[in-house]
Amino acid sequence: MRTSREVEQEMKTWRRRPEILSWLLMVLWAVLLSGAAVAQDLVGVYLTWKSDPATTMTVNWVDLFEGSSNQLWYRRNGATDWLTAEAVHTRAGVSTLQVRRVELTGLLPDTLYEFGIGKAPLKETDGWRFRTMPAELSRPVRFVSGGDMMHNREMVDAMNSRAAVLDPDFAMLGGDLAYANGVAATRWVDWLQSWMKNSVGKDRRLIPFVIGIGNHEVKGGYNGKIPDDAPFYYSLFATPEGKSSYALDFGKYMSVIALDSGHTQQIGGPQSEWLGEALAKRSAQQFLFAFYHYPAYGTTKAPKGGQPYDAKQSVAIREHWLPLFEKYGATALFENDHHNYKRSHRLRNHKRDDDNGLLFLGDGAWGVKPREVPSPEVGWWLAKAEPRNHLFHVELRADGTAKIEAVDVKGEVFDRLDLTRPRTRPVLPATK
Ligand SMILES: [Fe+2]
Ligand SMILES: [Fe+2]
Repeated sequence: MRTSREVEQEMKTWRRRPEILSWLLMVLWAVLLSGAAVAQDLVGVYLTWKSDPATTMTVNWVDLFEGSSNQLWYRRNGATDWLTAEAVHTRAGVSTLQVRRVELTGLLPDTLYEFGIGKAPLKETDGWRFRTMPAELSRPVRFVSGGDMMHNREMVDAMNSRAAVLDPDFAMLGGDLAYANGVAATRWVDWLQSWMKNSVGKDRRLIPFVIGIGNHEVKGGYNGKIPDDAPFYYSLFATPEGKSSYALDFGKYMSVIALDSGHTQQIGGPQSEWLGEALAKRSAQQFLFAFYHYPAYGTTKAPKGGQPYDAKQSVAIREHWLPLFEKYGATALFENDHHNYKRSHRLRNHKRDDDNGLLFLGDGAWGVKPREVPSPEVGWWLAKAEPRNHLFHVELRADGTAKIEAVDVKGEVFDRLDLTRPRTRPVLPATK
């Protein structure tokens, strides 16, 4: 039998039910919010390199929470103990996007690692994986290349997914990424989300990328101030020495050189001096690729009365960079910006040289509407050109041969090139 005091107490509790309910709701809301912060409610996770791709990995993530964890948990796939690393926390440009970045060093080459953000993944499907690059070309290395990525989300999603099906070691992305023009942060949200959701290879392995700058990363497109006119490019992406032109060496088997075709650095001057030094240091590297945004041998945007290669950026590239590539030899130069498919003839000194000319591959049509290409009668520099969305899929082999395929969004291989030697032979450019 309950006492009248107990009954009165129970009545009080019932009368306070709405208060208790709202208190419970508040607790639930707080738990959800902190859960979001712990689970990061991520906008993007992406992998880049600032130094040796065989022994380091730079892990970046973006969310909207100033107070969420800076901690990365990682371990070699199959190891029992987790390691932690503290990320540096910055903002993307002047937006509220919160960027965290940590470079992991001392990693084992060609090894799969798993990682979680804020905490160790409870189950395998909670986390991600990355794989370091091999130190030697002990197995074929594959990468994809393209640029001009996102006229809209649907188009970038489709080609990012195509890249993931190919499961390459990394991607080389040559500018005009989110078409944010240094301003539109929400376009970066889409770009980052699309990469995180779609560009995941086998076994939840995120595909790392090396990145280049294009006109649509920069307020005004060209001659921008570093970093203010390309605030997202310079805050989202860690590159060697934080520059838009840099070299990455993959053991002795490959070097990749990113260049800035006039967006935040002049084509000539200090950049071309640096390129000369960078190439001289890499004479003994087996394969050597360069990638940049504006093409030397494009397919559209011809100035009045001229050809695409008469555009002032193209002329500057021919004057300042191509003699250096001819002098030291290169495997291929990836170009972008013109939104078409292009494979050039081999060219040297502005002429066809089928034996030892440079090879130009482009023209940036990852996820943008293609344009028109010159007719075969006009386009003497073009071996193949068509307005078609594509990416390049490159495979390098230890014997110095390579295969380059053009793959469209449906997965059709519509062009293919077999290289029988890794670089063009060094030739001193003709003096004018
Ligand atoms: Fe462009
Ligand atoms: Fe573009």
